[in-house]
Amino acid sequence: MGILIRFRLALLPFLLTVTLTLSNSAIAFNPADNYLIDCGSLTNTTIGVRVFVADAGLSWTLTTPKDIIANNTKPSSVSSLDSSSLYLNARIFDGTSFYSFPIKQKGRHFIRLYFFPFDTQDFKLTTSKFSVSTQDAMLLNSFHPRADSTTAFQEFLVNITHDSLTLSFLPESNSMAFVSALEVVSVPDNLISDTAQNVQTKTPYQGLGVEQLQTFYRLNMGGPKILPDTDTLWRTWGTDGVFLVDAGLAKNVSYSGQIDYVTGASSPDIAPGIVYSTATELASQNTTVGPLFNVTWKFNVDGGFSYLVRMHFCDIVSKALNTLYFSAYINSLSAAADIDLSSITVNSLHTAVFMDFVVDMPDMSNNLSVTIGPSNTNNALPDGILNGLEVMKLGSSGSGTGLGSHSKIKIGAILGASLGALALVIVAAVVFFFLRRRRIARKMQSKTWLPSSINGGTSLSLEASRASIATTVASGQNGNLGYRFSFVVLQEATNNFDENWVIGVGGFGKVYKGVLRDETKVAVKRGNPKSQQGLNEFRTEIELLSRLRHRHLVSLIGYCDERNEMILAYEYMENGTLKSHLYGSELPNLTWKQRLEICIGSARGLHYLHTGSAKAIIHRDVKSANILLDENLMAKVADFGLSKTGPELDQTHVSTAVKGSFGYLDPEYFRRQQLTEKSDVYSFGVVLLEVICARPVIDPTLPREMVNLAEWGMKWQKRGELDQIIDARISGSIKPDSLRKFGETVEKCLADFGVERPSMGDVLWNLEYALQLQEAESPDTEVNSINRITELSSQVENIRSLERVNEVAVGTPSLDDLSDVSMSRVFSQLIKSEGR
Ligand SMILES: *[C@@H]1O[C@H](CO)[C@@H](O)[C@H](O)[C@H]1NC(C)=O
Ligand SMILES: *[C@@H]1O[C@H](CO)[C@@H](O)[C@H](O)[C@H]1NC(C)=O
Ligand SMILES: *[C@@H]1O[C@H](CO)[C@@H](O)[C@H](O)[C@H]1NC(C)=O
Ligand SMILES: *[C@@H]1O[C@H](CO)[C@@H](O)[C@H](O)[C@H]1NC(C)=O
Ligand SMILES: *[C@@H]1O[C@H](CO)[C@@H](O)[C@H](O)[C@H]1NC(C)=O
Ligand SMILES: *[C@@H]1O[C@H](CO)[C@@H](O)[C@H](O)[C@H]1NC(C)=O
Ligand SMILES: *[C@@H]1O[C@H](CO)[C@@H](O)[C@H](O)[C@H]1NC(C)=O
Repeated sequence: MGILIRFRLALLPFLLTVTLTLSNSAIAFNPADNYLIDCGSLTNTTIGVRVFVADAGLSWTLTTPKDIIANNTKPSSVSSLDSSSLYLNARIFDGTSFYSFPIKQKGRHFIRLYFFPFDTQDFKLTTSKFSVSTQDAMLLNSFHPRADSTTAFQEFLVNITHDSLTLSFLPESNSMAFVSALEVVSVPDNLISDTAQNVQTKTPYQGLGVEQLQTFYRLNMGGPKILPDTDTLWRTWGTDGVFLVDAGLAKNVSYSGQIDYVTGASSPDIAPGIVYSTATELASQNTTVGPLFNVTWKFNVDGGFSYLVRMHFCDIVSKALNTLYFSAYINSLSAAADIDLSSITVNSLHTAVFMDFVVDMPDMSNNLSVTIGPSNTNNALPDGILNGLEVMKLGSSGSGTGLGSHSKIKIGAILGASLGALALVIVAAVVFFFLRRRRIARKMQSKTWLPSSINGGTSLSLEASRASIATTVASGQNGNLGYRFSFVVLQEATNNFDENWVIGVGGFGKVYKGVLRDETKVAVKRGNPKSQQGLNEFRTEIELLSRLRHRHLVSLIGYCDERNEMILAYEYMENGTLKSHLYGSELPNLTWKQRLEICIGSARGLHYLHTGSAKAIIHRDVKSANILLDENLMAKVADFGLSKTGPELDQTHVSTAVKGSFGYLDPEYFRRQQLTEKSDVYSFGVVLLEVICARPVIDPTLPREMVNLAEWGMKWQKRGELDQIIDARISGSIKPDSLRKFGETVEKCLADFGVERPSMGDVLWNLEYALQLQEAESPDTEVNSINRITELSSQVENIRSLERVNEVAVGTPSLDDLSDVSMSRVFSQLIKSEGR
C-alpha cells in the first residue's frame, strides 16, 4: 500500500458519512478575482462563455511608457491555437511596463499569459526577448516566444499574498516585450494542498502552499482534449497519446456512467468528471511482449528543478471491488506501490481520487517519465490505469523559454560546471553589467560614468606601497567553491526553516539559525524565490566568499542550490551584530577596551579586503550591522558588499542600498559617483563614532543639528570636545590620550576628500595605538609615546606575518589554471571599477 493510501484510510470514519456530489450538478466555481484581458485589442473578445475585455479601455490597469498596439495581419497563422482570436492583437512594451490588479481574495490564482509573436512593418515581435514577473517572483525569464503552440500559452498557479498583483514586463536590451492576452483568476484554495510525497526521499514534501507552480503538462488520459469551457477552472487538458513511449502497450478506456466525488478525495474543481471518465489502461491482452509490462509516458521538462506530479485515478475498468491492483512510478522510482483504488474510495467503484508527488529532476536530465505497471501483489491480474496527469514546475522560473525549452542557464549547472565556464558567465555578466551601466548612465545624464582605466590607474599607484607591505599571496586556490549542501540537510538544520529561528531579515531573504548534525552552528541565509538579480548576487557571493578567508571576515561554510533554492550557510556568530551591543537592546555594556578590540578586528578584516588580493575589494556597505561578533566578541566583517558588486544592479536596488546605509555614505561617493577604498574608510569612521557615542547614525527624533552622527560628532571633535558626547557608560573609564587618538582617527577617516583619508592599514595602526594608550600604566608623555610607536609598528608587522600564515588568501591564482586567472582579474575589475 502506498503512503497516500494509508493516509486516506485515516479519513474513513468521515468518509462513511459523506455526501456524494454528483458531477453534473457541480456548481461552477465562482472566482473572487476574475480578470480576463485581451491585450492590445480595441474590442472585447468572447471565448466560449468568457469575455476577454479590451485593454485599450482599461487605462487603470496598465502603466507603460508608450501606448503601442499591433494587429496580426495574418490570422491564419494562429488558427491552430486554442482561443486563437486572443492572439490577433498584441500590446507592445518598449520599456518596463506593469499591469496591476486589485486582489479581492488572497491565495491561489491562475495567471495565464498568451503570446503569439508576429512581425509588422514597425515591430519584429518574432525576435523579442523579455521577462515577466510578479512583485514576488519571476514568471518568465529571458523569454523568447516562438510562433508555435509550445510557447503561446503559459500558465502559472501562484499564491498571491498582497492586496494587489503587479505583472511587470521587462524587455531585454534592443528588444520589445509584448503580450496577447492575460488572465488573473482565483482558484479554490484547496486545489493545491501544502504537502505531497517526495518520490526520492519517500518523505512528505511540505510547503507547497507558498510555492509558485508553472503548468508544464495537463492531460486527460485515454480521452479527448478538454477545452476551458468544459472545466470549472477554465483549464485545458491535452491528450496523452504523443507522450506514450510504446503506444502499442496501452489502450483507451471510457465510462459513460456517473463519476462519484467524495469529500476528502477529488472534486470537480480538482479535475472535471470527463477526465475521470476516460483512462489509458495497460493493454493486458497483448501477448507479444509477455504478460508483464509497464506503460510509460515521457515528458520534456527543464532539468534541475522540482516538479509536482499529480495523478488522477478513477476505477472505470473493474466489474467488482478489489480486483484492480497496480503500481505507479515516476522516473522509474516507486511513487505508489500496489494501489488498490477500492480501498481508497470507500469501497465504491467510479470514485475520483488523485495523488500528489514531488520529484526532483537532476541538472542534466530533461526527461520526466511516469509509469503505470502491474502490482506484485499475489494473484493480482496484470493491469493498471491512469485517468489524468498534471506536471507542474515548482518555484519561480530560473529562466528559459517555458515549455519544452532547455536552453537555460541554471545555477546548478553553473556551480557544478568547471571554473572555466564560470569565468565565461562572469565575463558575460561583466560585459552585460558595463553595457547596462552605460545605458543607465546615458539615461541619467547628470551622473558621470568613468571607465575603469582612468581612475583605476591612479588608485593603483596609490595603493602600490601598501600592497607590498601586506600582500598575503597564496596560490592554493583552485576553484573550490565551498561545500555544497543538500536541501534536506539545511532544512533539518534549521528545523524546517522555523520562523522562530529567524535571526535576521535582509533584502536577500531571511537568515535562520541552524545546527548541523555534527553540532556545528550555522547562520543560514535563504534567498527569496529566484529572481535573476538574486541569482547573480548568489553566484557572486559564493564565488567571492569561497576565495576570501580571514579571521576577521565571516566565512562561508557552504551553499545549496537544489530545488531552485539559493541558500548560503555561514559560520554562526554567537553574539550577533556590533550594533545590537551598542544601543537599542538589553545586551550588557561593552567596555572601552572591548570596543577598541572590536574596532581593531573589523579594521583588520577591511584592511585585508582592500589589500589581501591583487586588487582591492571594496566592501561598500561598512556599518555596525555588518560587523558580527563571535562567542569571544571577536569581530568579523560580514556581507562584503557583494550584493552591490553583482552585475544585475538595477536602479531601485541601488537606491534601496543607498537608503539602507544612509548615514554611513561617503559624501564624495555621493557627489562624484566614484567608489574607492576610501569610501569604506569613511563609513568605518562613522562606525567608530557609533562605537564611542552609542547612538544610531541617523536619529530623526533628535534636534536637527544632532540627527546625523557624522556631522554632529565631527563638530565636537573639531572643537576638541568629543568627550562631551560620548557614551556615558564608558566616559569615566576612557583615558584622555586614548580618546584623543581615537578622535583624531575618526576625524581623519571622515575627511571630505578621499585622498585626505588614511588607508585602512593606517586606521588599524592608529586604533592599535589608541588601545595601547588605554592600557598604558602611566600617563603618556610625547617621548614614550614615540617609543611605543616603534614598538607597536613591529608588533603590527608580527601580527601581519602571522595572518599571512593563517590566511588562505586570494590574490594570485595558480598559473596552471588560466581560466582561474582571467576570472580573478575580471572579478577584481568588476569590484574595483564599479562606479568609478
Ligand atoms: C467590454 O466589456 C466591458 C465589461 O463587460 C464593458 O464595460 C466594455 O464597455 C466593453 N468594451 C467594448 C469595447 O465593448
Ligand atoms: C488594428 O485594427 C483596428 C481595427 O480592427 C484599427 O482601428 C487599428 O488602427 C489597427 N491598429 C494598428 C496599429 O494597425
Ligand atoms: C498562501 O501563502 C500563505 C503564506 O504566505 C499561506 O498562509 C496560505 O495558506 C497559502 N495559501 C494556499 C492556498 O496555500
Ligand atoms: C485514444 O483516444 C485519443 C483521444 O480520443 C485518440 O486520439 C487516440 O487515437 C486513441 N487511441 C487509441 C489506441 O484508440
Ligand atoms: C502489442 O505490443 C506491440 C509492441 O508495442 C505492438 O507492436 C502490437 O501491435 C501490440 N498488439 C496488440 C494486439 O495491441
Ligand atoms: C516497471 O517499471 C519499474 C520502474 O522502472 C520497474 O521497477 C518494474 O520492474 C517494471 N515492471 C515491469 C513488469 O516491467
Ligand atoms: C530523453 O529523451 C530523448 C527523446 O526521447 C532521448 O533522445 C534522450 O536520449 C533522453 N535522454 C535521457 C537522458 O534519457
